[in-house]
Amino acid sequence: MSGPIAQGDGVLATVGATPLVELTRIEARSPFRVYAKLEAANPGGSVKDRSALAMLLGKIRDGTLVPGLSVVVESSSGNLGIGLAQVCRYFGLRFVCVVDPRANTQNVAIMRAFGAEVEVVTQTDPVTHEYLPVRIRRVRELVAAIPHAYCPDQYANHLNALAHETTMREIVDGLPGPLDYLFCPTSSCGMLRGCAQFARRHGLDVRIVAVDAAGSAIFGDTPRPRLIPGHGASVRPPLFREGLADDVVHVDDLGCLVGCRRLVAHEAVLAGGSSGAAVAAVAVRRERIPAGANCVLIFPDRGERYLDTIYDDDWVSANFGDVAHLWQAGELDPRLSTTV
Ligand SMILES: Cc1ncc(COP(=O)(O)O)c(C=O)c1O
Repeated sequence: MSGPIAQGDGVLATVGATPLVELTRIEARSPFRVYAKLEAANPGGSVKDRSALAMLLGKIRDGTLVPGLSVVVESSSGNLGIGLAQVCRYFGLRFVCVVDPRANTQNVAIMRAFGAEVEVVTQTDPVTHEYLPVRIRRVRELVAAIPHAYCPDQYANHLNALAHETTMREIVDGLPGPLDYLFCPTSSCGMLRGCAQFARRHGLDVRIVAVDAAGSAIFGDTPRPRLIPGHGASVRPPLFREGLADDVVHVDDLGCLVGCRRLVAHEAVLAGGSSGAAVAAVAVRRERIPAGANCVLIFPDRGERYLDTIYDDDWVSANFGDVAHLWQAGELDPRLSTTV
């Protein structure tokens, strides 16, 4: 099957074509098969490398973005910022990234190492008490103030979604059989929309399960503070459309944590919080998945970005108490996660 690919040169040529591996242990007692799409294998360490490349490459090649003149400005909690920082470094573009205090220090250090300028907003929005609206306002101010500034606007940019038609094509091409279930962590809705678009266009008989954060507004949950960044959004993104997902599972912070810790314990995969959420979502839907079904979980990023949170025992006990038995016990208790 063919699909649109933003193909870069040099290190950017290694964006995409990530491994699809079978996980035989995490759902060992279930009659279906589980595969993980390891997006950590992208050169910037996450699925957002695909979006960054797709949103910038065309504009660089057609001369809209000019090295030494244009300035890319974007709001990111980390992964997109790193992806954009890498693409901008490669092409010699100035990049200003607006983050909030929830962005982890390692991600900010990586962006800076690529040469990005990072601005941290410190106040939450007085109405929603969230950082995201403040970050978006600050991006608009910077775009208005900086000559030749360009904001890719991942939440509304159709190229963000288009990039993931390739992700879905790789999944379909890489599976030994038909794709029956896709568990897709969701934030800007780029990944969800791109995968769904590909599935519809090719008439695939796949059930797409959006994995959202409890307390995220994407699918109508009441926004509330969350500890683990990555998936979820406090505002419904413009890329969202009704009907993209066949099903939605909301996973709370503890569900993410337990999913991640079980993943590393059973499969030796050190993955980020939204990957743990995908693992938790499968556990929640376990009884509904038919025997023999092929389930693919997209694992958006790597666990190294969560060493001082999810994989730090002191952070875990400070935020959740004594919960280690939840992953040492084997089965993930679906009651840990709230579902809609
Ligand atoms: C770790 C992680 N998981 C999931 C997502 C959701 O992807 P999307 O923005 O395509 O919905 C993101 C997006 O930044 C992410 O960084």
